[in-house]
Amino acid sequence: MERKIIIAIDGYSSCGKSTLAKQLAEKLGYFYIDSGAMYRAVTYYLMQNHIDRTNEREVASALKNIHIHFQYNKVNNRNETYLNGEMVEDAIRTLEVSNAVSPVSAIPAVRDFLVEQQKHMGNRRGLVMDGRDIGTVVFPDAELKLFMTANKDIRANRRWLELKEKGMNLPLAEIVKNLESRDHEDTNRAYNPLRKAPDAIELDNSFLTQEEQLNVVLHTIRELVV
Ligand code: DC
Repeated sequence: MERKIIIAIDGYSSCGKSTLAKQLAEKLGYFYIDSGAMYRAVTYYLMQNHIDRTNEREVASALKNIHIHFQYNKVNNRNETYLNGEMVEDAIRTLEVSNAVSPVSAIPAVRDFLVEQQKHMGNRRGLVMDGRDIGTVVFPDAELKLFMTANKDIRANRRWLELKEKGMNLPLAEIVKNLESRDHEDTNRAYNPLRKAPDAIELDNSFLTQEEQLNVVLHTIRELVV
């Protein structure tokens, strides 16, 4: 029996982290956790409850009222995010939330609150988690760490298509602006910024198909687990 490992995937916004993570989880029979969905759910809660997101104390005190869990929906074959019992998988993907999430995720109390829950999810091996600090902070002992990058225009185009398929037709320029500002904020925040872990494998998928990318990573995993 092959041993089960933790796969930590980090990288810039819209690099295809979640696509790869989902494919790996499916192939390997692992759990998949989208840590970005947790930061989005916190942001969504703060927006819905009109909490001043620039007031760190108010945000920190709201956290005790936030419960996030994931549930697999077999009808549409996706892991859905629940906030206090309500399914918010689509509500947390709007551009409004995307534009507000980076400053919220820079607040140390928010990060500590979510990182603690994420670490617990790794108690059982056989997990793929994607985000910005998974290989550096959440699972510094992950057996496989990937750091994904891709050309910015290619990323923006992919994001535009993804949103269009969900019925959200947004100007490409707005998406480029959102990606640029999130990359900047995620890389430059003081607490747990986006960094490539020294032992992470860098994967630039600008010119790789999803299938090619999956095969490269599966090959690496096979070498690791035997
Ligand atoms: O992966 P995503 O684009 O859905 O993530 C949304 C935001 O959450 C991203 O701009 C930064 C933040 N995030 C983070 O700070 N740390 C993580 N581990 C995951 C996401």
